[in-house]
Amino acid sequence: MYRTHTCGELRAEHIGQTITLAGWVQRVRDLGAMSFIDLRDRYGITQLLIDENTPKDATEILEQLGREFVIQATGTVRERSNKNKNIATGDIEIEISGLKVLSPSAVPPFTIQDDTDGGDELRMKYRYLDLRRNAVRKNLELRAQMAHSVRTYLTENGFIETETPVLIKSTPEGARDFVVPSRMNPGEFYALPQSPQIFKQLLMVAGFDKYFQIVKCFRDEDLRADRQPEFTQIDCEMSFVEQEDVLNTFEGLTKYTFKNVLNVEVDNFPRMPYSTAMEKYGSDKPDIRFEMLLHDITDLSQGKGFSIFDSAEYIGAISAKGCAEYSRKQIDELTDWVKRPQIGAKGLVYVKYNADGSFKSSVDKFYSAEDLKTWAETLGAEPGDLILVLSGDKAKTTDALGTLRLEMGNRLGLRKKGTYQPLWVVDFPLLEWDEESKRFFAMHHPFTSPKPEDIDLLDTDPGKVRANAYDLVINGVEIGGGSVRIFDSELQAKMFDVLGFTPEQAKAQFGFLMNAFKYGAPPHAGIAFGFDRLVSMFAGLDSIRDVIAFPKNNSGRDVMNDSPAPIEKEQLDELYLQLKKLN
Ligand code: AMO
Repeated sequence: MYRTHTCGELRAEHIGQTITLAGWVQRVRDLGAMSFIDLRDRYGITQLLIDENTPKDATEILEQLGREFVIQATGTVRERSNKNKNIATGDIEIEISGLKVLSPSAVPPFTIQDDTDGGDELRMKYRYLDLRRNAVRKNLELRAQMAHSVRTYLTENGFIETETPVLIKSTPEGARDFVVPSRMNPGEFYALPQSPQIFKQLLMVAGFDKYFQIVKCFRDEDLRADRQPEFTQIDCEMSFVEQEDVLNTFEGLTKYTFKNVLNVEVDNFPRMPYSTAMEKYGSDKPDIRFEMLLHDITDLSQGKGFSIFDSAEYIGAISAKGCAEYSRKQIDELTDWVKRPQIGAKGLVYVKYNADGSFKSSVDKFYSAEDLKTWAETLGAEPGDLILVLSGDKAKTTDALGTLRLEMGNRLGLRKKGTYQPLWVVDFPLLEWDEESKRFFAMHHPFTSPKPEDIDLLDTDPGKVRANAYDLVINGVEIGGGSVRIFDSELQAKMFDVLGFTPEQAKAQFGFLMNAFKYGAPPHAGIAFGFDRLVSMFAGLDSIRDVIAFPKNNSGRDVMNDSPAPIEKEQLDELYLQLKKLN
């Protein structure tokens, strides 16, 4: 037996017992007459004591020990003279009678403690050592607890957990596929699933009624803090349901998990049409923890001789509470901030609504105090507030204003960690026009059903068609998305047509789905949550990398095993592959 207890387990009640522990050496302190070893495992740290009563062979071993050695120690639990209130085992220590090195350790490249001296790159290279640190392991424990909670809820609600294949035919979801060559089928490739979308719809045709899976998905897209090339979804599909049924079930799942894991009660989730989110928050994933809504002041501000505004499609403003006292320097800095390429505003107009009720603006030449007052009234601004105005193309300007709103929310401390405001964004447009390729793309995916009342618009004004599609947004993060599906093969064929597929192309790519629909497809709908995003939200972290055991870096590399990596020529030959010369 390697151990009788873990390093987090022993308390005053164990005093006098002979026990055996095993774990990693956190540190050794040599105080001359006595030495202490802090022994660590997943469960905690226990102090081991070596003094003049310790057998000689154990004392000799002490001399070889270094940080991160794996050792086994036997001894007697005794009361500590110097208690440590900061750790659970702080009342006791172990008087060692036997010590054994199970595995020595090289000097680790960084210290295994909460405030480690290791930088990001180094910790990623030695991720298995990073994972020994409490702070990192806790995130993975939270992840496991959440996965358990999700499984419990969905299983109790009648969902069947079903695995779907990983080597599949390409499913277009907007990103590029990762592909896998097939040795047995020369010149042919599998794709890794961007999601199990088609399979879960086929499971509905198969009569499974309610399906779920906590599943790896793969997307070859540009990476960011909230995107990894392989990530995990809580993927679900339900039959004989309407949009409301899906929203209620997954609102239930979200609330259950918040309560179960964080002991947090969240209110009912409001539902906001996409158009409102875009107009009022400048984003399809609004952070509704604070107001500071966008207001359209185009009509109020044109025709006063300010040519920039007069030629703009849209003029929008937000009002930042209590910021009228911003200095010239602060305003200049904010102006530079909105002009950064990531935001792309041409300039920033400000109006200070001073505490004494007077106005001071960067456009005083064109607008009287009376004019500015109408802006303030529209915005619901009060004396002491700062009005910030952007103008230009409508889509770009609302987007920039939405980003500025979030920035001001940050500066004013309105985006508090630990408060959660989920909402459903509904009624997304079905299609998105791509100027470059001059064609429509499915905003969600090609299997999403148009709103029945908008179907006629498919022929006349496809860009106006709204979809039965929805996103779950929490604190400005898109946690999940889904839709009611098309279950009629004729409507599906029409959708492919609008998306620019010839009937032959549609048949080649999706023939099996359309075929399946011929054999009695139930009405169905579903959703997928980004599990990594949900976990990082629960953990209060900004990056999903921290909740993934072995994540990739921003170039999609695993710096620990140095992949992706070249393969041998024989392997390429076997796959009938030839590499193009790299420059
Ligand atoms: P969608 O593409 O919206 O929908 O994806 C669902 C959720 O998955 C998360 N997500 C990601 N998380 C980390 N890294 C990524 N690269 C990444 N891409 C997406 C997001 C997102 O909301 N099949 C549909 C769902 C359906 O219609 O049922 C789908 O995959 O949190």
